[in-house]
Amino acid sequence: MIELQPVKGTRDFFPEQMRLRNWLFEVWRSVALQFGFEEYDACILEHAELYTRKAGDEITQQLYNFKDKGARELSLRPEVTPSLARMVLRHQKALSFPLKWFTIAQCFRYERMTKGRRREHFQWNADIIGQPSEVAEAEVLCMLLMACKKMGLTSQHIRIYLNDRRILNAILEQLAIPQSQHLNIMIVMDKRDKVPPDVFATLLQEQKMSLDQVHKLVETLSLGSMQQLADRLGECEGMTRLQQVMQLVDAAGLGDYLQFDVSIVRGLSYYTGMVFEVNDTSKSQRAICGGGRYDSLLSSYGGETIPAVGFGFGDVVIADTLAEYGKLPEFSRSLDYMVVPFSMDQMGAALRISNRLRDIGKRVECDMSLKKVKKALQKADELGVQQVLMLFPDELAAGEVVLRNMETREQTNIKLEELMIEES
Ligand code: HAM
Repeated sequence: MIELQPVKGTRDFFPEQMRLRNWLFEVWRSVALQFGFEEYDACILEHAELYTRKAGDEITQQLYNFKDKGARELSLRPEVTPSLARMVLRHQKALSFPLKWFTIAQCFRYERMTKGRRREHFQWNADIIGQPSEVAEAEVLCMLLMACKKMGLTSQHIRIYLNDRRILNAILEQLAIPQSQHLNIMIVMDKRDKVPPDVFATLLQEQKMSLDQVHKLVETLSLGSMQQLADRLGECEGMTRLQQVMQLVDAAGLGDYLQFDVSIVRGLSYYTGMVFEVNDTSKSQRAICGGGRYDSLLSSYGGETIPAVGFGFGDVVIADTLAEYGKLPEFSRSLDYMVVPFSMDQMGAALRISNRLRDIGKRVECDMSLKKVKKALQKADELGVQQVLMLFPDELAAGEVVLRNMETREQTNIKLEELMIEES
């Protein structure tokens, strides 16, 4: 017997799981289109160099990378933002900015498998490229909240926890830590919730921080309110900008969802401004969605500096969250009609009637089993059929079929032409 399990961390989608996936994608796609975003896609295979960054991002160590037969260093994409940057740089001259683009991308990361983390996942990504103003931040936040609301989640269930990388820079500057060390320290700071305090302190010391600096950093990070931190930092661009973003989202009527959180750092080194994560109100799981502003990713690939902001919203944690809150929709099958012949003689007519109904947009199962009425009705029930058309020989000869309403169990004889006219 061959190995029946899928590759560790990857997923089989049986029809039942596919219904959830399609529903989720449909919410994402419809919301993005409502906000005027355009869909794009790229190949799942990319040049590995797109993901190699100096700051020691975890993602770089999680690549599914290999050499192809032409000795090219390739990788399955762990995220889609680098592909987006590559595509924008490729057609930069022909594009009119700002771009508002979205995609639903399958991604692969060789992760340690914990709750909410798989080696294969899908991400809804939405990014605004070429808009430096904080209106872009506000728009992407409003959009992802619209999607959450469509799924039945309110501010009682979830929050957007926000911070700004420049606030973190200001904190590190106050501790007299040179700029050149900030990024590496931030990558460690992102691990704060995931490791014990003593390990956190050791990791920071490995990044050339003194014990005194570590203590002061931990103390600053535990300041409760945005105001307390603002008072301590004084003039700080990140703080001002973040407050503006929060005011805009509040003016859009969604302020209840926002919460400043200095512990939000994000593990990707390319963020330069606002950073955020969506989580449930008790922060009991991994992030549902994460993103931020990344104004220098495109220039780091050798292009011009083009400001950008966006997010990735995964399909794994949101499904767990919806299940925990009892918000997963019922995904029952449903068909408008089942057409039932009882012998091969009626099969041609059954196929013709089915196709005619499909022509006018109906979902139709043409039953091929040639079973008895009872069995056919049982099957119709299982398939979620609303109406059954039974092709008995005598009725059919008279140009009629028997129509059974599966809900009321009423049966009526109906002329074939009538059925088609009624429907068209
Ligand atoms: P990220 O935080 O690495 O950001 O991933 C975004 C989201 O994808 C996460 O919040 C989570 O929902 C989901 N996700 C990530 N890794 C896994 C995994 N192993 N298993 C299941 N779900 C996962 C990015 O990828 C950025 N490129 C997002 C972005 C777009 N920033 C700006 N634009």
